[in-house]
Amino acid sequence: MARISMGEITRALVVEGPDGSLDEALESAGLEVRRVPGAPSEAELISLLHETGAQVIFKRSRTLVTRQVIESCPALLAIQLCCIGDDSVDKQACADNGIMVFNDPVSNARSVVELVISHVIALARRLYETDVSCRAGVWEKSNEGRYEVKGKVLGVVGLGNIGRQVARAAESMGMRIRFFDSRYAAQEVGIEFGWEESSTLPDLFRKSDFVTAHLSARDASGKSNEGILSREILAQLGADRGPASPKIFLNLSRGFLHDPADLIALIDAGTIRRAAVDVFPVEPRGSEPWVNPYHAHPQVVVSPHIGASTQEAQPRIARRVARTFLGFSRFGSVRDMVFGPKVKLGLVEDGAEGKVLLCVAHSTDRGTKRAIDEVIYQAGASNLSSVHKDFEDLGVAYDLAAIDRPLSEEEIRTLVDSAAEVTGNAQAIRSVRQIAL
Ligand SMILES: NC(=O)c1ccc[n+]([C@@H]2O[C@H](COP(=O)([O-])OP(=O)(O)OC[C@H]3O[C@@H](n4cnc5c(N)ncnc54)[C@H](O)[C@@H]3O)[C@@H](O)[C@H]2O)c1
Repeated sequence: MARISMGEITRALVVEGPDGSLDEALESAGLEVRRVPGAPSEAELISLLHETGAQVIFKRSRTLVTRQVIESCPALLAIQLCCIGDDSVDKQACADNGIMVFNDPVSNARSVVELVISHVIALARRLYETDVSCRAGVWEKSNEGRYEVKGKVLGVVGLGNIGRQVARAAESMGMRIRFFDSRYAAQEVGIEFGWEESSTLPDLFRKSDFVTAHLSARDASGKSNEGILSREILAQLGADRGPASPKIFLNLSRGFLHDPADLIALIDAGTIRRAAVDVFPVEPRGSEPWVNPYHAHPQVVVSPHIGASTQEAQPRIARRVARTFLGFSRFGSVRDMVFGPKVKLGLVEDGAEGKVLLCVAHSTDRGTKRAIDEVIYQAGASNLSSVHKDFEDLGVAYDLAAIDRPLSEEEIRTLVDSAAEVTGNAQAIRSVRQIAL
C-alpha cells in the first residue's frame, strides 16, 4: 500500500549516538525527536517506531533496517545515515516501499585521511612493534626494516573523495603518487595533479612501495568490489621496487575488498611486510563477540572501524545530514541519496510561497509518470515544473513536481489507483508526500 503523507516530516527517531547538535537542528526546525542510546535490535526498532510514530530514522552503521522493519512501519518515509556505509539498510525493501535513504559521503573524509597518514609513517618506522617491545623492557635500537617515506611511491586504489585527499597529504611529505580508478572524472583529477596512473591493479601494486585502498563498495557501473584485491594482486606489492621497498598495505575503506587469510599468508611469506586494517569482512554489531583475524600477526595493525571516529567529524556529519534531511522534508529535494549517490534533485528552496510540492516515489513501470501528470491535470492543477529520476537497479523512480494548488487526499488516492491501472502494478506508486509551501 502506498505511503501517503501531507506536509513536512515531523517525528524523528535517533539511534546509535550521532552528535547531539543533530537533535538541536531538528528540534529547531520543529521536529519531535526521540533519541535512544545504542543500536536497537529489529524487534526493538519496530516497537520504537510504533511508539514514536517516527517518519525518519537517523542512524549510524550498526542498527539493521530490514524488510521486516520497513514493512511493519507504514509511517516511515526516510532513513538518514549519519555515516557513509549503507550496508545496514535493506535498500531494495526501501525502494519497494518508497522510502528514501540518505547518507553522508563527505564529512568524515578528513578524519580517515589523517589516520591513513599516521599509519603510513608509523608502519614505515615499525613504531607499533617498538612500543610493545619497549613496554616489555627491550632496548632494541636498530634501523632494520625502518624507512623514510620521502621519495617512496604511494599507490592509491580509488581516487575518490578520500583517496584524493590522502594523495595530496602524502605528496606534501615528499611521496610520489600513483593511482588506479576506473572513473573518468577521477582519472582527470589524478592527471591534473601530475600523478602517475596505472590502468590495472597489478601494475599499481608492482610499482608502489605502499598501497592504500580507498574504493567504494561498488564501481561506477554498480558492480560489487567484493574480493577485488585477490591474493595474486596483493602479492605484487612492491615487486618492481627493489629489495628496499617497505611493502606496506593499508585498507581503511571496505572490509570485503580482500580476504584476511590472503593478507596473513602474504605477511607470513614476507611478500607484504606490514599492514594497517580498519575494516573487516564481518564486523560485530553492538556488543557481539569479535575475533581479530590478525591477532597472531603483530605486523598487521588493526583498529575497530574508527576511521571517522573523531571529535571533529561527528559534529560535521550532524550538520550535513540535518541539512540533507531538512531539504528533503521541507522541499522534497534530494542529495546524498544512496540509490544514486551523485544525483541531486530539487525545485525550490525558500521564497516559493503558494506553490505545492508533490513528491512521489514510484515504480519504473512504463506509464507511471504519465498517470501522475494526468491526475494533476484532471484535478485542474497546473504542473509548474518538475524533476524526475529513475534508479533502474532498484526499480524505483523519484518524481518531484511543483503545482499551483494542493490535491485533496481523494485526488492523491486517485493518482495511486490510476497508476496501478495503467501499469497493471498495484504497487506502482510507493509513496506520495504533498508539501504546501
Ligand atoms: N574506515 C572508515 O571509518 C571509513 C570512513 C569513511 C569512508 N570509508 C570508506 O572509504 C571508501 C572511500 O570513500 P570515498 O568517500 O573516497 O568514496 P568515493 O566514492 O568518493 O571514491 C571511491 C572511488 O573508488 C573508485 N572505484 C570504485 N570501484 C572501483 C573499481 N572497481 N575500479 C576502479 N575504481 C573504482 C570510484 O570511481 C571512486 O573514484 C568507501 O568505501 C567508504 O565506505 C571508510
